[in-house]
Amino acid sequence: MFETTLSELEVQARQQIATAKTVEELEPVRVEVLGRKGALARISKELAKLPPEDRARVGKLLNAVKQSLEAAVEARKAEFQALALKARLDAEWFDLTLPAPEPERGNLHPITQIQNEIEDLFTSLGFTILDGPEVETEYHNFDALNIPPDHPARDMQDTFWLTDGNLLRTHTSAVQIRGLERFTPPLRMIAPGRVFRNEEVDASHEHTFYQLEGMMVDREISVAHLIYFMKTLLSAIFGREVTVRLRPGYFPFVEPGFELDIQCLICGGAGCPVCKQGGWVELLPCGLVHPNVLRMSRIDPELWNGFAFGLGLTRLVMMRYGIDDIRHLQSGDLRFLRQF
Ligand code: FA5
Repeated sequence: MFETTLSELEVQARQQIATAKTVEELEPVRVEVLGRKGALARISKELAKLPPEDRARVGKLLNAVKQSLEAAVEARKAEFQALALKARLDAEWFDLTLPAPEPERGNLHPITQIQNEIEDLFTSLGFTILDGPEVETEYHNFDALNIPPDHPARDMQDTFWLTDGNLLRTHTSAVQIRGLERFTPPLRMIAPGRVFRNEEVDASHEHTFYQLEGMMVDREISVAHLIYFMKTLLSAIFGREVTVRLRPGYFPFVEPGFELDIQCLICGGAGCPVCKQGGWVELLPCGLVHPNVLRMSRIDPELWNGFAFGLGLTRLVMMRYGIDDIRHLQSGDLRFLRQF
């Protein structure tokens, strides 16, 4: 009779152990069968009632069942642990062979890109790159450039004056003077930088924009030298023939002075808001350095002369990339900037 009970108990317990889905479900099964007050303990107490000749046999059987069920419980626990470990590893797993996502990379602003190209070109031609302050003295921005206080050229450029009498430079020509003060001729320099004008903003005018000044002082410099460098500059930037025109231009710091205009590349010369319907864009004013400018920087104009130019860098970028509104360039709009 004990044998039957034990064997039924074992079968039932095994089934319960096998169907428990968690440690929490398994524990009550273990307590009910193997616990101190569990089914096997209760049977064990009954053994005393057996005749001595049966007691040893049934006792042995009971121990065997107990050990086998304990082993089954431990095995099930081990299975749960293995499953938990697998679930954790599955969650943590990642494929080391997958390519890493591309980190988002920035790019140089188109103005910086073209500035770098021009710097490379001019340094290869023996020019030095100069930097000058954006907050300038009236002397460097005007007086030393042969623009006296009452000269109309001062009105031509609406200036941001500072309360201390200094100003935000209106052109990179101020750096010409800093170069002439610093170096003795012969000299070749370029000066890229930001300039400021208090003017109405439209498709081709900003209040803050970039110019790139160039200057060469040597002996017997002529307009032919000037034109050579201008042509070299434009063909390097555009990589193709572009239509330009040279016309007389007035700047107090050059004599003769020229305006070099480029045929508008936005409309092909037909007329658009960028060229103000005229078909041409002012890009590269230039000329031979006025003797007064050299004199004021204590350079003898009888011995030395030179050329200077003031490239409208922001406008050049517009022409090169066909940008139809100058305001895009400083809008900070990444959708625009990512295109370059
Ligand atoms: C000057 O600033 C002179 N300093 C240039 C110069 C240097 C002449 C050396 C002779 C010798 P201008 O004011 O024209 O010149 O400006 C030069 C260029 O800057 C223009 O041709 C144009 O391309 C650009 N520019 C002028 N105003 C603006 C503006 N508001 N927004 C964007 N670009 C401008």
